[in-house]
Amino acid sequence: MNKFEDIISLCKRRGFVYPSSEIYGGLKSVYDYGPLGVELLRNIRELWWNEYVSKRTDIVGIESSIFMHPLVWKASGHVDGFSDPMVEDVKNHKRYRADHIIEEWCKSKGQKAPDCDNLSLAQLDKYIQDNNILSPDKNKLSKAKSFNLMFQTELGSNEDDTTSIYLRAETAQGMYVNFNNVISSTRVQIPFGIAQQGRVFRNEITKGKFLFRMLEFQQMEIQYFFSGKNWEQMFERWRKELENWYENILQIDKSKLSWKPHTKLIFYAKAAEDLTYEFPWGPDEVTGLHYRTDYDLKTHSKHSGKKLEYRDPYTNEVYIPHVLETTWGLDRNFFMILDNAYTVEKTRTVLKLSSKLAPYKIAVFPLVSNKEEIVNKAQQVFKMLLKDFNTYWDDRGNIGKRYKYQDEIGTPYCVTIDYDTLNTGEVTVRDRDTMKQEKVSITNLYSYFQAKLTY
Ligand code: GAP
Repeated sequence: MNKFEDIISLCKRRGFVYPSSEIYGGLKSVYDYGPLGVELLRNIRELWWNEYVSKRTDIVGIESSIFMHPLVWKASGHVDGFSDPMVEDVKNHKRYRADHIIEEWCKSKGQKAPDCDNLSLAQLDKYIQDNNILSPDKNKLSKAKSFNLMFQTELGSNEDDTTSIYLRAETAQGMYVNFNNVISSTRVQIPFGIAQQGRVFRNEITKGKFLFRMLEFQQMEIQYFFSGKNWEQMFERWRKELENWYENILQIDKSKLSWKPHTKLIFYAKAAEDLTYEFPWGPDEVTGLHYRTDYDLKTHSKHSGKKLEYRDPYTNEVYIPHVLETTWGLDRNFFMILDNAYTVEKTRTVLKLSSKLAPYKIAVFPLVSNKEEIVNKAQQVFKMLLKDFNTYWDDRGNIGKRYKYQDEIGTPYCVTIDYDTLNTGEVTVRDRDTMKQEKVSITNLYSYFQAKLTY
């Protein structure tokens, strides 16, 4: 098995991620988070919120709805332009992204792929024809056409009276349409950001790559409003903020991170770069940084007829703010964190998660489960730690197996209560990464972990 498959297998085996509706055969590119996955997901979300909202005075949070007025998506350009180039296998009608088909073909031939982002539908077709590229099932491919990625549904209970609405494809629009509400209900002053986390939906043509490309996923986004002056400096500032987040806060291996500027800018953007992580198949986007000019507030002003402006309280200058957007895919970041932490050693597999992110911080083991005094003492220790740390109780199997299990789920510390504990009042603390063990008295145990696990 390769690393990619090993991680997927670990996720299923240990309760991080399950395929959706598995008993019915699953649903491609849709996943459920299990008991451990949900803890890791919450930890990433909370860390992000603390870092970008709670600890700062220049960013406020909101939580907007998944459903929005359909005109929002018309104004944003999603109805007309949020699409990918699609080709179809003419025999079995399976659908593929034209750019992905070309890139995979080039990879299999060991040749450099063209810059598909900058090719029109006709140019993609020509490349496919000229090179006689077939579908993965070796059939001819149809001409490429634009496929809109938004999921559409009907609002209303009366057949004659329904309106098409969309499941949101990004959280960003919720922040633009609430711009006036935030300005008038809070004390924010430009430059300031609006942050939000939430579910989004995209009818992706290409399925696969586990949590990297899903139909329903979670975003964490910040729309940072500023005057537009010196935008290059603002861009650079956010680049640094992102590097700090990945390298110092998430502690991702720096050598696996790189910046990739967009070769084709969307018409309203002046600059866009992706921060990529070296996934098992190569570098791919985990976060995007986009300078969107004043397009968003301008377009919503135009379509809604409501002015979305800012009056500078000192100069009285009135203007439409510009936006610097940072956008994270939570699920992609989750997968990146697992990939970065996944370590195979001679005798064990270990998830070297930072203790901030680990689902459980400590595991408590009574050495044996049939000696009441030992179990009672271990329960006492467990309850003391559980008050402040996410702590795991395990009294089954030999200690070696229990360590192995905790290593695989990334628990930084294991505490064993044995016969000696009853005489000395000391427990054995084992460090996940070094596997070193040390004796700590129960009296000092809480402050010992407080020093290690408080940030
Ligand atoms: N508001 C800007 C925006 O939505 P995007 O590059 O389309 O930009 C932002 O998406 C982030 O969402 C990406 O950097 C990626 O991490 C994540 N993302 C995009 N499509 C995804 C998918 N199908 N499955 C999982 N994550 C995805």
